[in-house]
Amino acid sequence: MTKKVLITGANRGIGFETAHQLAHQGWYVLLGVRNIQRGQAALAKLNAENLSNVELIHIDLNDLDTIAEAANDVKHHHPDLKVVVNNAGIAGDMDKRPLDFSVKELDDLMKVNVEGNFEMIKQFTPILQKNHGKIVCVTIPTIINNFFKPFGYLTSKSALNTLIKLIGNDFKQNHIPVQVFGVIPGGVTTDLNDHMSGWMMHSVEEGGQIIATVVNDSHNHQGKIINRMGVVSLGAKHVWSKIKPHRN
Ligand SMILES: NC(=O)c1ccc[n+]([C@@H]2O[C@H](COP(=O)([O-])OP(=O)(O)OC[C@H]3O[C@@H](n4cnc5c(N)ncnc54)[C@H](OP(=O)(O)O)[C@@H]3O)[C@@H](O)[C@H]2O)c1
Repeated sequence: MTKKVLITGANRGIGFETAHQLAHQGWYVLLGVRNIQRGQAALAKLNAENLSNVELIHIDLNDLDTIAEAANDVKHHHPDLKVVVNNAGIAGDMDKRPLDFSVKELDDLMKVNVEGNFEMIKQFTPILQKNHGKIVCVTIPTIINNFFKPFGYLTSKSALNTLIKLIGNDFKQNHIPVQVFGVIPGGVTTDLNDHMSGWMMHSVEEGGQIIATVVNDSHNHQGKIINRMGVVSLGAKHVWSKIKPHRN
């Protein structure tokens, strides 16, 4: 049976590349986009590669009604949805010092990175619960250091990481069969960082591959935030578990 995944912010960057790879792997992909025109351009790129197992769904994390409408649509047309990738996110001004931020700028980041993601989890858990599904949240490490310190981005993603751990823990304790966890793809060259490059940066293909790996794997990551190294060793374990029977 074809497995179905919904990815937010799927028209460009890591979200688009994850959609691209999963569609090639045979998943039916719902491309969550906030702007239908930009979504159609992304859809056309996938269609041009003969991928017809893709469709658009309108989701704007700044407009919570679109999330409820999307969940209602999925409930009726794709009740077998298996995975949600909470990918859409914004970084805001990454250079400003903390007190140069206005409350409005901080609020804009919290709305998308925290409240929008929270509403996605709330609205899609009842659907995924029936399918023992998972919600993969794309995030960043939030340990404070002197090198990577974008104030609004880190503040909002810290709240997201806490939210992921608390919801995952609650689901575990209450036996709710939906995994909620975070994945840190590492630095990925995209629009979000003005296409930053360098030895510590990864290509968008590598970023998409990290997310696609956790969408596909069968491990339980409930409430965890896993980083690139975790995913890489997970990939090795995945391969190991596949080859093990042939060794016996
Ligand atoms: N790039 C990195 O180094 C990196 C590292 C770790 C984690 N991440 C995380 O990975 C995720 C994707 O990042 P990216 O680098 O691919 O960013 P990106 O290239 O800037 O793409 C962001 C995507 O999110 C969408 N989006 C923005 N605001 C939205 C909203 N209100 N509602 C719905 N969609 C919205 C954008 O849609 P539009 O085209 O309509 O604006 C776009 O599709 C983010 O959560 C980011 O924090 C990125």
